[in-house]
Formats: sequence, structure tokens, C-alpha cells
Amino acid sequence: MNDTVSGLLDAIEPVGRDPRSGGYRRPVLSTAELDLRSWFVQEAEKRGLGVETDRNGVIWAWWGEPGDGALVTGSHLDSVPGGGAFDGPLGVAAALVAVDRLRERGVQPARPFAVAVFPEEEGSRFGVACLGSRLMTGALDPDKARSLTDADGTTLADAYAKAGIDPHRLGRDDAALARIGQFVELHVEQGKGLIDLGRPVAIGSSILGHGRWKLTVTGIGNHAGTTAMRDRADPVVAAAEIVGLVAALARAEDDARATVGRFEPVPGGTNVIASRVDLWLDVRHPDDAVTRGLVDRIGAEAAGCAQRHGCKAAVVEESWSPTVGFDPALGRRLADLVPGAPVLASGAGHDAGILAAAVPSAMLFVRNPTGISHSPEEHVERSDADDSADVLADVLEGLL
Ligand code: GLV
Ligand code: MN
Ligand code: MN
Repeated sequence: MNDTVSGLLDAIEPVGRDPRSGGYRRPVLSTAELDLRSWFVQEAEKRGLGVETDRNGVIWAWWGEPGDGALVTGSHLDSVPGGGAFDGPLGVAAALVAVDRLRERGVQPARPFAVAVFPEEEGSRFGVACLGSRLMTGALDPDKARSLTDADGTTLADAYAKAGIDPHRLGRDDAALARIGQFVELHVEQGKGLIDLGRPVAIGSSILGHGRWKLTVTGIGNHAGTTAMRDRADPVVAAAEIVGLVAALARAEDDARATVGRFEPVPGGTNVIASRVDLWLDVRHPDDAVTRGLVDRIGAEAAGCAQRHGCKAAVVEESWSPTVGFDPALGRRLADLVPGAPVLASGAGHDAGILAAAVPSAMLFVRNPTGISHSPEEHVERSDADDSADVLADVLEGLL
């Protein structure tokens, strides 16, 4: 097999791509993501790997017989709205090519080995990031998962059923967890660490604690022409001020990051004073107590702000991931296998971070020359993408 990582990524380049912006929209179980899942199955079968989809929708491709204590590598194929081409697919393509490289080297796995693809890592359709790994580890209640809805009101249960995955079987999967002896996820770097260091690959040390909260501001819907300014309870005006407060409160806290990336006036009409605004907060800090404290302050200030505008504000947590450090012993093994690689903390969340609570996990990051991610500007040079499969193969060979 003489596939390269860049060649594999070229093959899926048009899938879910907006030709105007160049950004990708590949929500879990959408046509685009299902096309990518089929592409992965085809590529795995081309390599003689045995493919199965587990009860949480994770795709496994086994080299040899499935079994406990396997070495597992992989990533995800879904994207954020307007995302880049590499966030997720780079790790999946590198895993497939790493299998080719191991075979070329004559490696025969001495223990079970699999490539895994996790669903809804971004949470861009149903709101909970790393949904597949959270279900597998029991970090997400299956009843809660089944009732999550997308923007069109489709429940996750219906979306899974439509894709042929029985939603009644979702939930903690001890058999799947027992199969993962170690998990290694290769991923595009989503910041500037490797550019600053002038290096192509880093080893991950930790993932910044983060969570998502839905903030709802409720006012009184009315007519844009007949309602005097003094008579309004306009939630858009309150919510706009709240966005400014979020940024100001986060700036006052060292190392905190707070983002409002989604802001939806309801019903959303040019000549309509909205009755409600839904906005979503993403808040991150290395110290979980600081994140929680910051979210509490945002909630309190938002309530006061809403009240001044005759509105009400309420905050509901949608997901939470504490700061996690990757397995130190596995990290030391990776440092031996990728000599001289710098060690970087990740500000982004990953399935490896969720799995780390249950199994020894590690990450490799590949240089992104723009330092930008969750945007069409995200980039990996072809040579770095291709070389990443060799680095991953070195790591896998050493761990096998
Ligand atoms: C995923 O990339 C996240 O960090 O939200
Ligand atoms: Mn990712
Ligand atoms: Mn991402």
C-alpha cells in the first residue's frame, strides 16, 4: 500500500466543504460524516482490518483478532461548523497509514491492535463534546444522551436509530474499555506551540479543564415599530451586554478563556423584538475551581444585567471536563520513542482526555503553521502530515 496521509486527506477534501468559505461542516451522523465513516470503513477493509461499530457508535478496525488490552489509536471525523480539514481526520488518516508502515517494517502485533473513530467529538450537533468516549466511559448518562436534540429538534436517539445504531444500547461499555490497553491519539496542534519551537511533533501532557453552559435570557417579544424604547424588555440588548461581561470577567482571571460562539435570538426576525436569546458559554482554565468560580460570577452578573433590562437570565451546564494529565509512564515511553519531541499542554479537548480517566492515554500533536484551528485557516503541510504517520508508526511499534 503506498498511500500517504496527505493523499488520504485529498480523497475526503470535498466532503462537507463549503466552497465559498472553504470551511467544513461535518456534524455527527450527517450525510457528510456518514460519508466519512463509510470512507474509513472502506480504507480499513482495503487493509484487511476487521471493522465493527460498537453500541456507542465508535468504529473499530482490528488488525487481527479483537481482544482485551489492545493498543488503540485513532481520532474523530466530525467537525465544528466552519472547521478545518485536519481536526480529527489527520489522526484517522495517520492511523491508517501507520498500519501500512508497520506492515512494511514486518511488524506483527504481539497483542491486539485497533484503529478507532469516535463519534461527536466536537459536540457540534448535540451539544456534548466527546460524546462517544463519554458514553463509553460512563461519563455521560445514556438517558441524557438519548434525549439530546440538534438544532432541528431531532433527538440523538432518532439520529442513532436512523444510522442503524440501536439507541437503547448506549452507555458505559466495560467490554470496550477492557479492550483498550493504551490509547494514543494523533491530532493537529490547535495553537502556536510547535511553530514557536520550530518542531514538527509534540507529545501532549494535559488537557485544559473546560465546560459548556447554555445561558438563556428571557424578555418580552414584541413589535419593533409599535413598542417604545422605554416599554421594552429586549433580551438581545441584555444578552449583548452579557457577552461583553463574559469577556471582561475572563480577562480579569489569569489563564482563563471564555467564549460565546453561538448566540440565537428567538424567534429571530428583523422587525421582531425577541422573546428570548439562547447563548452558549465555553469556559476553560487549568484550575477547575477557578473555572467553576468564573462561571458562577458570569451567572450572577448576567442575572443582574438581565434584570436591569426587565429580563431574566438562567445558566444550565451542558458538559464538564476537568483538567486531565495524561498517563506519566506512557508519556515517558513516548518521549523515548520520539526523541527530542517537546511536551505541550492542550487547550483543546479530545477523546484521549476523556479516555484518560479509564485507560492509559497519550497524544501526539502535529505542527499547524497558521496556529489557527476551528477555522478554514487550520493547516498542516503535506510533508508534516505524511511524516506524522512514520512518527505514529514509531510509537505504535515501540508500544506493541
Ligand atoms: C474541541 O476541539 C474543543 O476543544 O472544544
Ligand atoms: Mn479534534
Ligand atoms: Mn476540534
